[in-house]
Amino acid sequence: MNTNKNIILTADRPTGRLHLGHYVGSLKRRVELQNSGKFDKVFIMIADDQALTDNADNPRKIRDNIVNVVLDYLSVGLDPAKTTICVQSALPALHALTFYYMNLVTTARLARNPTVKAEIQLRGFEDEGVPAGFFTYPVSQTADITAFDANVVPVGEDQLPMLEQSREIVERFNRIYGDTLVLPKALIPENETQRRLPGVDGKAKMSKSLGNCIYLSDSPKTVKKQINGKMFTDPLHLRITDPGHLEGNVVFTYLDAFSTDDHFKEFLPEYANLDEMKEHYKRGGLGDGTCKKFLFQVLESILAPIRAERQKWEQDIDTVYDILVDGTAKARETTNATLARVEKAMRIDYFADRSIIKEWEDLLRKTER
Ligand code: TRP
Repeated sequence: MNTNKNIILTADRPTGRLHLGHYVGSLKRRVELQNSGKFDKVFIMIADDQALTDNADNPRKIRDNIVNVVLDYLSVGLDPAKTTICVQSALPALHALTFYYMNLVTTARLARNPTVKAEIQLRGFEDEGVPAGFFTYPVSQTADITAFDANVVPVGEDQLPMLEQSREIVERFNRIYGDTLVLPKALIPENETQRRLPGVDGKAKMSKSLGNCIYLSDSPKTVKKQINGKMFTDPLHLRITDPGHLEGNVVFTYLDAFSTDDHFKEFLPEYANLDEMKEHYKRGGLGDGTCKKFLFQVLESILAPIRAERQKWEQDIDTVYDILVDGTAKARETTNATLARVEKAMRIDYFADRSIIKEWEDLLRKTER
């Protein structure tokens, strides 16, 4: 279906504070999209139900992190006047939609989803068994997206298989029940390092359990410790005068993701841009200490305003709570309307009005006995 509207929906699992990987991979983009004026509606959801699919035994963690995630949203500049922030578990239409969509996908198709496969391995579910809710969360995610009639879904690269699956479910639904759902499209960051920022230790991804994250709410001291203590440069670059290598050099990976020409003007004017700095590093004569110091300044110029904004909101949790209440009420209206449309298309809208009485009466009159 085409609603002729541009609508964004995206979500995060509230399992911890958000970090720089979230920031470059998605949060920064969301703020730009929010402020672009190109979208009729922007919805951001805290996916607590999805978080429970692999944290059923630890609801406390989810409950505690809802406030962390919403504070991170507000501190990066997501504005409740422009973006509706809502909580998944308080939107019952999503549960109903999930149950209906479950019939439009096979267990074999779900088992093929590479992101879910990787997550199953990561969580050790191979041995203890995969919770059915976890196995089917791509279906619930399809409910999230379609319930808001979202046509644009800004996500990280790892979510592409989810979107593919969502599109299949939408196409199947529309084929069986008539044109009802909006076909969504993923929007991923253009810059490759932004798509997949490694941890400070160079490992594939920032992850809490690996301790290789820089969180948006970390203190300058912690940021410095992560950079100076954990970040790899070039093991062959022993003396400053040695030629340096950029491959696998995490400091330069981060500079690729975060530094701008303005940062050079402000903090390292001997180079006009990152290319000049890289050339010098490769030639030899540029020390790792200088590179790390510059990276710290770059990151701080991004993190300091976010940190300050967070501290402000932390003093006013009453208002933060009301933002969630209002956003969730708005989202409930939207998602309930979609559910009504879906139930009508599926012809299970028995109680929408009393028109089925006449249908049943006619049917009974015609039935031969
Ligand atoms: N699975 C997503 C993640 O882990 C979170 C999510 C839940 C989501 N529902 C969504 C993302 C709907 C996009 C659209 O990051």
